[in-house]
Amino acid sequence: MHQMKKFTSVSDVKNLQEIIKKALQIKENPHSETQKGKGKTIGLVFLNSSLRTRLSSQIAAQNLGLNVLTLNAAQEAWNLEFADGAIMNGDTVEHIKDAIEVLNQYCDIIAVRCFARMKSKEDDVNESILSQFEQHAKVPVVSLESATRHPLQSLADSMTITENWREDRKPKVVLTWAPHIKPISQAVGNSFTEWMQEMEVDFVIANPEGYDLDKKFTKDIKVIHNQDEALKDADFIYVKNWSSFDEYAAMPEVKENWMLTGEKLKTTNNGKVMHCLPVRRNVELSDEVMDGENSIIYQQAKNRIFSAQAVFSEILNEIN
Ligand code: CP
Repeated sequence: MHQMKKFTSVSDVKNLQEIIKKALQIKENPHSETQKGKGKTIGLVFLNSSLRTRLSSQIAAQNLGLNVLTLNAAQEAWNLEFADGAIMNGDTVEHIKDAIEVLNQYCDIIAVRCFARMKSKEDDVNESILSQFEQHAKVPVVSLESATRHPLQSLADSMTITENWREDRKPKVVLTWAPHIKPISQAVGNSFTEWMQEMEVDFVIANPEGYDLDKKFTKDIKVIHNQDEALKDADFIYVKNWSSFDEYAAMPEVKENWMLTGEKLKTTNNGKVMHCLPVRRNVELSDEVMDGENSIIYQQAKNRIFSAQAVFSEILNEIN
């Protein structure tokens, strides 16, 4: 029986293949542990918007018999202060430290979504909000996407690749940058990169000049600035936008068209197309690709339930 003290990155997973296997088994039989969380409460705290993470986490927790508290903090809670030592004589009403101490009184697991605020590179790189949860929570903390990572998404992505690969060779997996209308954080790209380095895959990243991810995540992974070259013979194509890391949160001009189209897909090895959603149709990828038979995007979204359930189950092993 594996145990897990927290889940904020791939480094919290003792054995990646084992947890993927567990998530796949849960998918086969999602109601096999309905008593495991009985009498325990998970708090799902959203400082940012969500569709998939909120609903899949709720289903996962309910499948384990957990009580679920969902707090859409940005809309429903007091305006939070994050700065240490702040004199709170302005718009903020409750300090994050106090909010976490109160959550400790109500919850056996605290899960939190706290996106990059994209104002200070230093704050985001240092996970200024998640680190406060890690510091002040007295119960296990689960990331529902933080400033630099989205590990529950990456586990679902790894599970989806595993489900869709039957050949006796490593698949070629390409993470390709896609256009967007506004600056988006690097969290999904970073996280996918981190997890692919733990998987049995040939992994490359394609992005325009000026959009290289943080070296802390890419390490010695090949980064190609030509999308056509990267897509050649790809078995899986993961489409995602992110803003510049070097020129933090900027959107340097890109002259070529990086939107994934049916024409580009023809150069791959009948590659399966992935995206974490939400997606900007006909900006990041074309309708033809999104609705085409190579898309496994909704399967990825479904797998968010089982990846969350596998993680919550491992954490319950620790606290039960
Ligand atoms: N992929 C994902 O995390 O979706 P939501 O932002 O809707 O939760």
